[in-house]
Amino acid sequence: MSKPHVAEAIAALRSHRETLPTDMRALFGDDANRFTDLSASFEDLLLDWSKCGVTTETMQLLRNLADAAGVTERRDAMFAGDIINTTEGRAVLHTALRNGGSDPVTVDGKNVLPDVNAVLDAMGAFADQIRSGAAKGATGKPITDIVNIGIGGSDLGPVMATLALAPYHDGPRAHFVSNVDGAHIHDTLKTLDPASTLVIVASKTFTTIETMTNAATARRWIAGALGEDAVPDHFAAVSTALDKVASFGIPENRVFGFWDWVGGRYSLWSAIGLPIMIAVGPQNFRRFLDGAYALDTHFRDAPVESNLPMLLGLIGYWHRVICEYPARAVIPYEQRLLRLPAYLQQLDMESNGKQVTRDGEPVETPTGPLVWGEPGTNGQHAFFQLLHQGTDVIPVEFIIAAQSHEPDLKTHQDLLIANCLAQSEALMRGRTLEEATAQLTAKGVSAAEVAKLAPHRVFPGNRPSLTIVHKVLDPYALGRLIALYEHRVFVEAALFCINAFDQWGVELGKELATALQPVIEGKADTGDRDSSTAGLVAAIAALRG
Ligand code: F6P
Repeated sequence: MSKPHVAEAIAALRSHRETLPTDMRALFGDDANRFTDLSASFEDLLLDWSKCGVTTETMQLLRNLADAAGVTERRDAMFAGDIINTTEGRAVLHTALRNGGSDPVTVDGKNVLPDVNAVLDAMGAFADQIRSGAAKGATGKPITDIVNIGIGGSDLGPVMATLALAPYHDGPRAHFVSNVDGAHIHDTLKTLDPASTLVIVASKTFTTIETMTNAATARRWIAGALGEDAVPDHFAAVSTALDKVASFGIPENRVFGFWDWVGGRYSLWSAIGLPIMIAVGPQNFRRFLDGAYALDTHFRDAPVESNLPMLLGLIGYWHRVICEYPARAVIPYEQRLLRLPAYLQQLDMESNGKQVTRDGEPVETPTGPLVWGEPGTNGQHAFFQLLHQGTDVIPVEFIIAAQSHEPDLKTHQDLLIANCLAQSEALMRGRTLEEATAQLTAKGVSAAEVAKLAPHRVFPGNRPSLTIVHKVLDPYALGRLIALYEHRVFVEAALFCINAFDQWGVELGKELATALQPVIEGKADTGDRDSSTAGLVAAIAALRG
């Protein structure tokens, strides 16, 4: 791999784009095989990118870029446990957490799989005790509610997956507190009985101020209601910093560890997944891991042209760097994937929101896009107006299951699917002025009114979207879907030549907040801060009285 080769591959893609037909209707009209050529499957998971304005030649040029950027070599280095997170000196091995194979996975010459499986077994035993009622609260009541306290990767994965797997949720109710805003923990705890509540403190570092503040509040809530001695029966912890957990008073057999080669935003497969496991049971959690492992194997072994994460990454790169679209919308047509966009925001934007290459040089192309979304059909009645007729082109990624968990509500699923496919069709086809005019005229609208209204009813079309279809959102399919997006982020990072696994961009705000805290508390003055910050401090102090 060398920079000139990457630059040449990018230049070839840019000149190719100049020659591409821009009318997607014509692309479909001229090529009966377009869907077959520009879609691929793994198991029941289908990726259709034929409604993106690319051709088979584009795909070849993108594969050339992947070659030049050494994407497969980087992938192999990740799976091999090489130190690819160079700024933190760490391997990147979340794939080891779901590895159901027997081949060793080594870090520093040590096979990590026995430790991974030991933690999974310990989590399983604990989850079973809580779920069966064998592990009770201090007063002898069974646990009916769990509260996970964590933020970022120690929150978003568990929240997203627990909601997604609601049909499999047969354990205690699950609640999630992340925000340091006291309203979050207050509104959560006020509905709960401390005597039947288990609090899980989840923090990779066990230093994150939001989590530590919420954990201290929860501890006071338990100790205040049940006495200090009750704390061990009502808490569990998940962390890589086991020394820090000890001082919180949580017994060793309720502390579940993981490792520094698991990034926070890749940690729901680790002990961070404990609330998911308590909610849906160890067997369903294993199926969730198995789905991810299947996708890992596919990513590792399938040729680029049929490799779903590679293809998703190449298309993402095409839209971001070659077409220069600043954002992408992820629209799951599945209400239970309500928190998937938020989860993907951290996964993608914390990974690929970077401005220097792995070597610390300024990047020469745009890097990760703005990622956002909401479930369909709700989004259709909110922001789809802009997607269809706004002045920016925003590629859309639709996710839809063929089957729901509610067979007696088949009409709902039929409508959901029809809407999902119709939106991608509308984005692609658009509606011309002639068509808008003809439609209004056919309705008997006067010529003068038609002339006035028709321009408002024009859709430019040629707006790219891709569609991900799977059979049903079960634990296996969820694991597979999340792993697909994880590896897509990896592929794009490799093409951007950046390190996806650090997150230095979150540091400055944390440092400044720590420095501002005494100022807000009235224990220090604003010093030589800028007039805006000083003015805001004064205004808020005046309002607080
Ligand atoms: O601030 C960013 C971050 O470090 C994320 O990467 C991480 O998922 C989150 O904070 C929470 O960190 P921890 O699990 O260490 O509390």
